[in-house]
Amino acid sequence: MAICMTFRAAGSKVHLLINKSSIPWYIKMAAPTSVRFLHEKAYVNGKWADAASGKTFDVVNPSNGKKIGVVPDMDAADTQNAIQFAQTAFESWKETTAKERSVILRKWSELCIENKDELAKILTLENGKPLAEATGEVMYGTSFMEWFAEEARRVYGDIIPSPAKTKKILVLKQPIGVAGMITPWNFPNAMITRKACAAIAAGCTVVLKPAEDTPYSALALCELAEKAGLPPGVLNIVTCSRANAGVVGKMLCENPMVKKISFTGSTVVGKILLQQSASTVKKVSLELGGNAPFIVFDSADLDQAVNGTMNSKFRCSGQTCVCANRILVQEGIYPKYIQKLAEVMTRDLKVGDGFESGTTQGPLINHNAVEKVDGHVQDAIQKGAKLVLGGQKKGGNFYAPTLLQDVTLDMKCAKEEIFGPIAAVHKFKTEEEVIKIANTTTAGLAGYFFSQNISQIWRMAEKLEYGLIGVNEGLFSMTEAPFGGWKESGLGSEGSKYGLNEYLEIKYVCLGGM
Ligand code: SIN
Repeated sequence: MAICMTFRAAGSKVHLLINKSSIPWYIKMAAPTSVRFLHEKAYVNGKWADAASGKTFDVVNPSNGKKIGVVPDMDAADTQNAIQFAQTAFESWKETTAKERSVILRKWSELCIENKDELAKILTLENGKPLAEATGEVMYGTSFMEWFAEEARRVYGDIIPSPAKTKKILVLKQPIGVAGMITPWNFPNAMITRKACAAIAAGCTVVLKPAEDTPYSALALCELAEKAGLPPGVLNIVTCSRANAGVVGKMLCENPMVKKISFTGSTVVGKILLQQSASTVKKVSLELGGNAPFIVFDSADLDQAVNGTMNSKFRCSGQTCVCANRILVQEGIYPKYIQKLAEVMTRDLKVGDGFESGTTQGPLINHNAVEKVDGHVQDAIQKGAKLVLGGQKKGGNFYAPTLLQDVTLDMKCAKEEIFGPIAAVHKFKTEEEVIKIANTTTAGLAGYFFSQNISQIWRMAEKLEYGLIGVNEGLFSMTEAPFGGWKESGLGSEGSKYGLNEYLEIKYVCLGGM
């Protein structure tokens, strides 16, 4: 039986015919019959655009390896062109009132909420995450539109008491200029809105390169931004393949018209972008990799700790920067925790296509991710960890949710970010020991701990060297709260009242002769 998927792309329709009988079990899916807002062009200066070279690259569904469509493979010259348009748009956008910007952002959020099901379908199609989780991400994404629509109107300056009678001290906050952004595939919608809405609210314009695996969510957002009244040139999306990602990133970092870089992705790439941005002394925000300790003390509420583990570890099939990485469990509660986690994982996790009802674990993003995750599991088993559940490739890009116990610090899964559905559990004895283990890493993004001891809660919250701490909680990302890492996990904060500062310059005005 053949099913037909109809995509509306850049004014034309693309039909994909899929022969269902040839599809193995792991990619059988309740495929969407139509997907609106799916554009196969980049978006520059308010127009759907091709690469000057005319080149395109394929975007595939990680769930079944099938081509979804193509997008332009832009290069450094295309990026420079987009930057020029963003610079021109900045000249007028910075003159708009905060209220005008706020109205457009709010309208954009309303349109996204109205069309959340369509946006979620695109997200599931290109990223693979379950449809319900994708809808959750779209709503999380719109929360940044709404939030920054409000914050746009609260960019207060300052008047500071002067020590000199003849001089007055004024502080103005002004938009920094064109912001270059590079966003990841694990949150193809929300990481765009968290950055771009802050910039747009501040009066900046944006040139954004989405991940090559997931460009369609970014492009769909542009259609709705245009409908909301965002003027041409304020938000520009430059699509490019992995092969061109380096030159596009370099252009964003080195072009003197770009005044700010914001990146979410790996620490390795973040360091390269930071170096490249030094040549023009750009303001840089980086949200980089983590290696989150997830600590369960003997006093913890077991159900709460297991529930927190499920929420933190298995979101996006374990592919978030804040996922629990080193699960450290105190010896008294260790056997009960392992038993309960195994029960709940067996009961609640279902691997499958994101469009299939009941799926909680979609595919990993690609074959390399599967190999890396499997490498971590094999390395741990070979070094003495015990496999409690999973530990197998499930065909295509799918990997079985896995529980390993008796993990030790010499194993790869303790030293590196796993980025997959592997719960790797270590045993520890004392609070002092676990603080040392938790902080002995160059990463400093998220840390979690579960305890019912109030003085221990306070001590731990202070001692963990992480930018984000979950206490008896495995899910803490919210638009109102600052998101940012310490150490090599990043620079700056996104979301919250702090997020706008990343796109503002402070100007001190001294009024003399008073
Ligand atoms: C991530 O960056 O991987 C997590 C994003 C979030 O929770 O907001």
